[in-house]
Amino acid sequence: MELVVDIWRGAADGAFQSYPVTVRPGQTVLDLVVYVQRHLDSTLSYRYACRVGMCGSCAMTVNGVPRWTCRTRIGTVSKGGKLTLAPLRNLPHIKDLACDMAPFFDKLAAARGCFVPGRPGAGDMAPIAPSNRRRQAVDAAIECIGCGVCYAACDVVAWRPDFVGPAALNRAWTLVNDERDGDRPDRLAVVAGDAGCHVCHSQQNCARHCPKALNPTASIAGLKRAAALALLKGEL
Ligand code: SF4
Ligand code: SF4
Ligand code: FES
Repeated sequence: MELVVDIWRGAADGAFQSYPVTVRPGQTVLDLVVYVQRHLDSTLSYRYACRVGMCGSCAMTVNGVPRWTCRTRIGTVSKGGKLTLAPLRNLPHIKDLACDMAPFFDKLAAARGCFVPGRPGAGDMAPIAPSNRRRQAVDAAIECIGCGVCYAACDVVAWRPDFVGPAALNRAWTLVNDERDGDRPDRLAVVAGDAGCHVCHSQQNCARHCPKALNPTASIAGLKRAAALALLKGEL
């Protein structure tokens, strides 16, 4: 298939540049980007690592939609022989297809995305039955690969850059439900704050685009319920 791919070049004040390419069946968008960099313009900047949907580093905006590019086949997204590639939205552009992920990871930290042991001692493992309701809530949300696709898809992040966003809140929800975690009250207080879960409008852009089929909107709704309950109990 003959294709013209328009790729964003430069930083925020850059412009699209067109490259004519020949695409073989089954190739992914990331294959195409690698081809352009290796054969047409070696100065093209972008980011990837695993190529198999595990690291989350290859996310870009493909025809206006945030996607992981190593698992997106060109044939499923090209329109009329055209493809447009840009860096993820809602993050500072560094150069070409590479954006600065620091704000995204800073917000994971701000939402207290690190596990805090509730009990000391490596031998003090807590057995959690698979039927445990809180464990099931964790299982449903735990497979996040930190790709930033949901963050780029979130209009509220675009309108309110201080909003911690879907991935950070999804992570907080897994920890709030972790029986072993010792930071639940403080974590809930942080995520229920001014730029936290209550800012979410619940329209599910994040869930629609998450390549791991997670539902951060549901996690955020869980945080809202947990925060309200904690407030009623006088814990917040
Ligand atoms: S929740 Fe989904 S879209 Fe968001 S960072 Fe995690 S894997 Fe990516
Ligand atoms: S549902 Fe909430 S977190 Fe998800 S995209 Fe919408 S505002 Fe953002
Ligand atoms: S390169 Fe690792 S998820 Fe795409």
